[in-house]
Amino acid sequence: MSDAEGVKPRHFVDLADFSTGEIESLVAGAKALKARRVKGNLGDYLPLLGKKIALIFQQPSLRTRMSFDVGINELGAHVLIVSGDEIELGHRESIADTARVMSRYVDAIMIRMLSHHELLEMAQYATVPVINGLTKKSHPCQVLADIQTFEERLGSIRGRTIAWTGDSNNVLASWVHAAARLDVKLKIATPEQLSPPAALLDWARAEGAELKLTNDPYEAVDGADCVITDSWVSMGDGDREYRHNLLRPFQVDQRLMDAANKGAIFMHCLPAKRGEEVAAEVIDGPQSAVWDEAENRLHAQKSVLVWALTDTK
Ligand code: CP
Repeated sequence: MSDAEGVKPRHFVDLADFSTGEIESLVAGAKALKARRVKGNLGDYLPLLGKKIALIFQQPSLRTRMSFDVGINELGAHVLIVSGDEIELGHRESIADTARVMSRYVDAIMIRMLSHHELLEMAQYATVPVINGLTKKSHPCQVLADIQTFEERLGSIRGRTIAWTGDSNNVLASWVHAAARLDVKLKIATPEQLSPPAALLDWARAEGAELKLTNDPYEAVDGADCVITDSWVSMGDGDREYRHNLLRPFQVDQRLMDAANKGAIFMHCLPAKRGEEVAAEVIDGPQSAVWDEAENRLHAQKSVLVWALTDTK
């Protein structure tokens, strides 16, 4: 809880806000927390003992909700979970007033909401850390977990090639942010009508990211160590039939995986639709890293919370 004026809270809004070293440090923290959990000595390390952390969900969630809840408990803190509807977020009072009030009760706020603008408003007025648990624009917790997953399977991500095929969505945006910071070559195949936003690409190129854009998934996966896709219809998307028709050629099947590097892995943030963006033979096959990705949300988010709430002086 905070009534402090002038002390900047450690928000986790976008990977673009972090340096290479800071992202590497968050991933290293996630790996260390995972190793500690595997050993089973969680009770020896309760860095957030006595803290209170609120989770606000304006959109549905399985992974984000459960992994934050479990992670917060494992770090010794107390969790409060509310839906956006329960507090009529943005309607009953302003986002700014919600942020000011919550900052007097809790030590950090994780929020999932479609509006990135409103999340930024929450961060502007909160005097405690605000963590982005997915907006329409980005999903940094997911990509932090993805980087951890890649490195566990294939070693350092620096200098490696990642392929994205399918829709251009919030997870891809966070991958673009990561590519700008981590010396990752990102090859993106989307239908022309669903290209990533020009402003995002301009930002990434100005920051030195190595991006390749194509409308051909085979071109994208050529030389790739990892192939990633996501649902054809993300939260807040309409035009279901239109998107399905456009995205059908971008499905990840075994033939596409075979066109990537030998030993390449497959990642998907989940939830997945077998037979749509990914064939069952891939997501349930030996190259799939999706269950590790889901688990690593827990460790990556614990690392973010420890960073946000300890050693901040
Ligand atoms: N990948 C992800 O964020 O999953 P949930 O929507 O279930 O939280």
